[in-house]
Amino acid sequence: MIIVHGAGSGIAQEYIASETEEPILAISRETKISQSNVENIFISTLDELETCLKEINEKYIAWINFKTIKTDEIITKVTPDQLRNSFEINFLPNVIAVKTLTPKMIPSKTGSFIFIDSAKAWMGESGCLSYSSSKKSNAGLQKTAVKEFSRFGITFNTIFISYANTVMWTSLSPALQDKLLKEVPGKKIVDFHEINSTIRFLIKNRIVNGTNIFLDGGLTNI
Ligand SMILES: NC(=O)c1ccc[n+]([C@@H]2O[C@H](COP(=O)([O-])OP(=O)(O)OC[C@H]3O[C@@H](n4cnc5c(N)ncnc54)[C@H](OP(=O)(O)O)[C@@H]3O)[C@@H](O)[C@H]2O)c1
Repeated sequence: MIIVHGAGSGIAQEYIASETEEPILAISRETKISQSNVENIFISTLDELETCLKEINEKYIAWINFKTIKTDEIITKVTPDQLRNSFEINFLPNVIAVKTLTPKMIPSKTGSFIFIDSAKAWMGESGCLSYSSSKKSNAGLQKTAVKEFSRFGITFNTIFISYANTVMWTSLSPALQDKLLKEVPGKKIVDFHEINSTIRFLIKNRIVNGTNIFLDGGLTNI
């Protein structure tokens, strides 16, 4: 079973539409996906997420987390509440997923965790403290989890996206889009099929582990 957390995300919906074979559990606050291989679950708190994940009983489980909140505030204006909220949405669901799903994966010696991240958040950006620091916490989770669970055949990888054709991108002015694309060596945004095929690759491939895959046209150029 593939668990898609944050199924209301534009990128998640493109992925789900492209995956018509595997059983999918779509977790969202309110977005319903009508597709024959998709079961919908509607939750809004971390406790509800934990309860829902504890009930899963499948031989193969992949966790893909698209859920995110992005606030735009310079450091001097960021409040502790904004930071707490960002960590609650951008980081803690992954911790709960690793805590509750790994015990279910260990007996079958397989399982995948895929965290969806932002190349810009990784690079750091003005106004990005809450988004960047909460997203970056997932790197600590990934590194620790690789050390603790790899021997059970479980993999942990992160896909970093520069810009995809979602509301986040289309709501920018053409002038700003041009300016941002000028910084990208490849001069293009990410196509959905490039994200979808990378997810499929990470689910099927059992040796790629602890990696960061940058779908960014060379923006980060590490
Ligand atoms: N769009 C881009 O160009 C871009 C660029 C770089 C990285 N990314 C990364 O790609 C992933 C998906 O991005 P996206 O643009 O598709 O995201 P999106 O459409 O903004 O969706 C994010 C999801 O997060 C959940 N969410 C948003 N605000 C929330 C809140 N206040 N409280 C609780 N949940 C909330 C919602 O999930 P539910 O409605 O399902 O509950 C929402 O559908 C994210 O991890 C993002 O960082 C996107």
